[in-house]
Amino acid sequence: MAAEFVGRGWGVVGTVRGGGTPLHDLAAEQPGRVEIAMLDMTDQGQIQALRDRLAGRGFDVVFINAGVVNRRPSDTMAEVATDEFLHVMATNVLGAMRAVEAFGALVRPDGVIGVMSSGQGSIANNANGVNDVYRASKAALNQAMASYAGRHKDERAMVLMAPGWIRTELGGPGAPVGVEEAVPQIVDVLLDQRGIPGLRFLDRQGRTALW
Ligand SMILES: NC(=O)c1ccc[n+]([C@@H]2O[C@H](COP(=O)([O-])OP(=O)(O)OC[C@H]3O[C@@H](n4cnc5c(N)ncnc54)[C@H](OP(=O)(O)O)[C@@H]3O)[C@@H](O)[C@H]2O)c1
Repeated sequence: MAAEFVGRGWGVVGTVRGGGTPLHDLAAEQPGRVEIAMLDMTDQGQIQALRDRLAGRGFDVVFINAGVVNRRPSDTMAEVATDEFLHVMATNVLGAMRAVEAFGALVRPDGVIGVMSSGQGSIANNANGVNDVYRASKAALNQAMASYAGRHKDERAMVLMAPGWIRTELGGPGAPVGVEEAVPQIVDVLLDQRGIPGLRFLDRQGRTALW
């Protein structure tokens, strides 16, 4: 997504957890366009430190993307290890929402706050279970984002993104859609929402997803 924004002429502040990432390659290819910050989403102190570093700056888009799945996605709540469950929740819900709380206020009034959710966060669409822990985390993320939106409803556009099943490390090689196809669509949907305050749960074609 950082590459997509840079390709469209934007400047990007992107976060990583380590060195030698594709974001570093992008920063080297596009001097002055990409700023890199270290951030582990599960570390509240790091979120606050980055918030302090960025204080006073305005952003058109903040997008919270980080997310994890438990090792055996088929595990039920009875089977998953407690620490694994907590790690998924700490990353996908607590970390994501702490980032929204910290960085959302830096978004300009006509900008957009985006959060990577998932169609698997839909309660209405959950007929057969599977991915119980991941589903629960994204449903909790959606609920927490709805609370945030209730407190900030007239301020900015907010998007929970359900991107579809995408070929990434998390999505796996069997996913039907590649990043090169999905990312420009996700970026288009985000940018289309600017200036329309309120929270929407959207797929990568901009259609309303079922809560
Ligand atoms: N792929 C799909 O089919 C699909 C569908 C719906 C939603 N999503 C969502 O899309 C988002 C991106 O996932 P992906 O498919 O691109 O998976 P991915 O390739 O596994 O990427 C996950 C990203 O999250 C980062 N991350 C994980 N824990 C973090 C932490 N504690 N602090 C900071 N960064 C952390 C990882 O950073 P490192 O590089 O440092 O490990 C990695 O960049 C996730 O929220 C996922 O739930 C994916």
